[in-house]
Amino acid sequence: MLSIPVLEELPTKTDLRITFLDEKFIRRELQKKQSSEIPADLFHFEQMTGVLGQCVWEDHPSLRSRRALYVGLGSTLTLEDYRQAAATARMALKPWSLRSVILTFPPVIPKRLSVSEVAQAITEGWVLASYHFDRYKKKTKYKEPRLSFLVADKRGHAPVVRGIEKGLLFVQATSLARDLVNTPAAFNTPKDLMESARAIAQAHSSISFKMFDETKLKRMKAGGILAIGQGSMHPPFLVHLIYKPKKKAVKKIALVGKAVTFDSGGLSLKPADAMMSMKCDMAGAATVLGIFSVLEELQVPFEVHGIFAACENMPSGHAIRPGDIIKTLNGTTIEIANTDAEGRVTLADSLAYATKFSPDVLMDFATLTGACLVALGEEIAGVLSTTGNWKKRFLQAAETTGEKMWELPLEKKYEKLLESDVADLRNISGSKYGGVLTAGLFLQHFVGKTPWIHVDIAGPAFAEKMFEPYIQKGGTGFGVRSCLRLLLS
Ligand code: BES
Ligand code: ZN
Ligand code: ZN
Repeated sequence: MLSIPVLEELPTKTDLRITFLDEKFIRRELQKKQSSEIPADLFHFEQMTGVLGQCVWEDHPSLRSRRALYVGLGSTLTLEDYRQAAATARMALKPWSLRSVILTFPPVIPKRLSVSEVAQAITEGWVLASYHFDRYKKKTKYKEPRLSFLVADKRGHAPVVRGIEKGLLFVQATSLARDLVNTPAAFNTPKDLMESARAIAQAHSSISFKMFDETKLKRMKAGGILAIGQGSMHPPFLVHLIYKPKKKAVKKIALVGKAVTFDSGGLSLKPADAMMSMKCDMAGAATVLGIFSVLEELQVPFEVHGIFAACENMPSGHAIRPGDIIKTLNGTTIEIANTDAEGRVTLADSLAYATKFSPDVLMDFATLTGACLVALGEEIAGVLSTTGNWKKRFLQAAETTGEKMWELPLEKKYEKLLESDVADLRNISGSKYGGVLTAGLFLQHFVGKTPWIHVDIAGPAFAEKMFEPYIQKGGTGFGVRSCLRLLLS
């Protein structure tokens, strides 16, 4: 596993030294220069304003390091700024083949931030920026330079080390979610996804694993998962992970993820272009698995349930048809008007299943609607909730994490759009507008009175192009870091 050592002084030889400089600091130094107090080695400030992400290189700044890179930190100095600056630095040296890099930990940070939080943010930015998925390439282009932090103030050591450790775990979880999303659907079948969950449980003594195969799903009358999975040659599985902390749990939380390993649309087939990225339709489950992979290491004090209904939405002679009526786990019947609105049908069962364990809060992550992309664009998730306090805490965690989320209403007036002539509910709305809200209202039928937060991650779960220096094309692991933050708050 990756580690980032903390050093007290610059080693005798290093390929590159990185220093963060904020706008205010540079302005002050330049003023000093006018009063001719400026030390000779600070000349490069003249080229620098310090705006966030600005990079200024210097060759042979000292005998101990061959090169130096100065990175602008901007002026607001939020945790996200540190994350961005670290990621920009990592991206800037991608073309170079460096063995050792020293990052000088900023000696002064704003009072509202803690040293360990800043260390965590820098670690996240740096390591997430170096994420790559090249499992299916003959040779890898990437050579990871060895990174160390230079912390001059000895008192800063312990908090920096703590921040790095936490940051590395957050990244490890996010990278697992990214890997799972990036893996092609042929190698990530419902059974594969179920096995990934089992492997996480086997590696952790505090996590137990339960799974329900087709026979068991029939016995428990989980008609939603079975209906969506029936067109595929790969049978569906309902997966349930349970994490119990060493000490008595403070609260119980259930995390549900949409787990459609490939969404072709079924008989309501998607156009070719829209299908191209649909291996990402299990990103919700990937988020849940990413989180579970580090719960024990982070000593999360909550009891956490992770639940997903893995299935593949395919057209075939066995597939569910438009017009069919199915009965879900909680007895609600659904008229399938469009087989491409499959996520909500599988979630109907997994949400109803999750409520049985009476969690204090139930959260779901789902690449649920194209409408969410229309409403909020590619980088922002839609949040719909029946709770006040939990939602507030979650949105706050998301804010510090740099994951963009926005609340949308569960408007009762639109409930009538889900009425069916022949069943309790219809799986698509009677209107072409407000698709995120009607999808949310549909799910609400299956959570009962359990406090609930629904996160539509259709946009941010998968980047069609680079979102941020630390979020490249492909699976993003969206939601993992915000949720972990919530679980540690
Ligand atoms: N998996 C899709 C939603 C999606 C779209 C996720 C784009 C990520 C990127 C979902 O199952 C779907 O197909 N939704 C339909 C619903 C419609 C038929 C009511 C959609 O949004 O078009
Ligand atoms: Zn679909
Ligand atoms: Zn889908």
